[in-house]
Amino acid sequence: MTSPVLQVGPLPPMLERALQNDHAAHRLPDDPGAVETFLAEHAEEVRVLVTAGVAGVRGIDADLIAALPRLAAIAHCAVGYDNTDLHAAAARGIAVSNTPDVLTDCVADAAVGLMIDLLRGFSAADRYVRAGRWATAGPFPLTQRVSGARVGILGLGRIGTAIADRLRAFDCTISYHNRHPVPGSAHRYLPSPIALARAVDVLIVAAPGGAATHHLVDAAVLAALGPHGYLVNIARGSLIDEGALIRALRDGGIAGAGLDVFADEPNVPAELRSLDNAVLLPHLASATEQTRAAMSELTLRNVTSFLATGTLITPVPLPGG
Ligand code: GLV
Repeated sequence: MTSPVLQVGPLPPMLERALQNDHAAHRLPDDPGAVETFLAEHAEEVRVLVTAGVAGVRGIDADLIAALPRLAAIAHCAVGYDNTDLHAAAARGIAVSNTPDVLTDCVADAAVGLMIDLLRGFSAADRYVRAGRWATAGPFPLTQRVSGARVGILGLGRIGTAIADRLRAFDCTISYHNRHPVPGSAHRYLPSPIALARAVDVLIVAAPGGAATHHLVDAAVLAALGPHGYLVNIARGSLIDEGALIRALRDGGIAGAGLDVFADEPNVPAELRSLDNAVLLPHLASATEQTRAAMSELTLRNVTSFLATGTLITPVPLPGG
């Protein structure tokens, strides 16, 4: 059976089923050895690729794009699309979509949850109780107050703004850094990641991944955050120099980190896993039933719309576009 739709990597099961039912979609073999045979048979059919863009899975690279002569659209079931070679897509006039807005609330909720866990030590305190240490070692050590904290948001986009909105209810003061100040924003703009880190108690990373933001949080930014500062990352692991972060956590360079994303998912360095001042989540910020259903539905609408009309519902800007 032929199909214009090709799935790359895992997708939410409801989306995978819908793509099969509605479009008889194929799935690119995960085994690299089987890809060539698959492409020899199906490459000419494919007009739309669908991917969740999860780390640890093949991205939509220039080779894959070049191997699909009729490819015209790439639909991501994710807000981030840094695993796709946008330059290669733009050079061929291939349209790209993502799933903005529908996941903003859950990702912002997760960022605030990580921040509270980190400052109040909930995950560490849970381990303390389970290990029987409350009874043997006494009360858990004192932690840090969340309400009123000075928070810096690196990347005041849709998700960064939703995080700021939530934290206003905690009387937090919000500063941010973007490449340019956000017109009309009530929050204080700081001109660099270092200036932002220096001014806050908690630095929350919410900027897109990709080459332009690679290691935006490096050893110097962590030093500016300082021994009493906390880092939260719900964006992409590529934004942080993970080696520098591990050293800062280990040596008291910063107080702690709450991480939902990592440099080489799903592989989290053993040294990071051994640190009690880190809260580590398996990239779950948007992973609620409601949000994954909304992301699946929006992705499907993008695919169906493109096949019917040649336009995507939530396209992303392409380089040079
Ligand atoms: C999740 O990380 C996403 O990009 O949607």
